[in-house]
Amino acid sequence: MSLTLQTIFGLDGRTALVTGSSRGIGAAIAEGLAAAGADVILHAQTEAATAPVAERIAEAGHETRSLACNLAEPGAGRRLIEEAEALAGGLDILIINASAQINAPLDALTDGDLDTQINVNLRSTIEMLQTCLPLMAGRGWGRVVGIGSINQARPKAIVTAYAATKAAQHNLLQSQARDYARYGVLLNTLAPGLIDTDRNRARKQADPDGWADYVRNLNWMGRAGEPEEMVGAAIFLASDACSFMTGETLFATGGY
Ligand SMILES: NC(=O)c1ccc[n+]([C@@H]2O[C@H](COP(=O)([O-])OP(=O)(O)OC[C@H]3O[C@@H](n4cnc5c(N)ncnc54)[C@H](OP(=O)(O)O)[C@@H]3O)[C@@H](O)[C@H]2O)c1
Repeated sequence: MSLTLQTIFGLDGRTALVTGSSRGIGAAIAEGLAAAGADVILHAQTEAATAPVAERIAEAGHETRSLACNLAEPGAGRRLIEEAEALAGGLDILIINASAQINAPLDALTDGDLDTQINVNLRSTIEMLQTCLPLMAGRGWGRVVGIGSINQARPKAIVTAYAATKAAQHNLLQSQARDYARYGVLLNTLAPGLIDTDRNRARKQADPDGWADYVRNLNWMGRAGEPEEMVGAAIFLASDACSFMTGETLFATGGY
């Protein structure tokens, strides 16, 4: 096959579900996958939340569809994949992006904090993998990209449970990468450093000077990343460009 940008990175004919694509990194990745040719299914807790992203993608000339559910609810991950499969007639790419992050040191973590983070970040990941991997394997092609975090490798006490769920999510992807490699289904993690999204907005607004100092000293680039800076890496991991890499983590942190 001749090598062109389209044959390497193009996603024509592929269907992708991006969880948590109403804003931030998920929205940027959904827009990027659509621009690369994928038929994108958006997801958030409500359909109304994804409407502005659907409009932006429509303005760029691409159709999307939307699904909504709260991934903290047991069974929601399984149902989400079944609905996406029914909508698309076959899901090729799954971007596991939605997550819950509750900043609290170990001694301040409540049962509710634990349940939410474990259910959204881990339980729903297991359910989505249980449901989509056999179907992808049956079709002989699949890409799963888990959005991890620098915290999975360099955890901080303030995000102790969140960091542990991110490490466990990657561990899950690795074990399945081993089993599914022979079926053309590849699973990798894209682990961002600090990205300027709603998740960090309250902290930034509460202490703009403290935030600026923190960010200046955080990584080698001395700044937070933008959601759009995750898109190229996500397209790589979701496309045929990623054909000999599975069970790995790609860090995008500004240098750490
Ligand atoms: N921002 C960072 O600095 C950073 C750094 C490293 C890793 N990450 C990871 O990158 C990913 C995206 O982060 P972000 O900062 O872009 O997130 P964000 O702006 O906080 O957006 C979170 C997304 O997840 C969805 N979501 C949250 N809880 C959900 C639930 N219970 N059920 C279903 N959907 C839910 C939200 O949907 P609604 O709009 O409906 O609430 C939204 O679309 C996450 O996995 C995060 O852990 C972020």
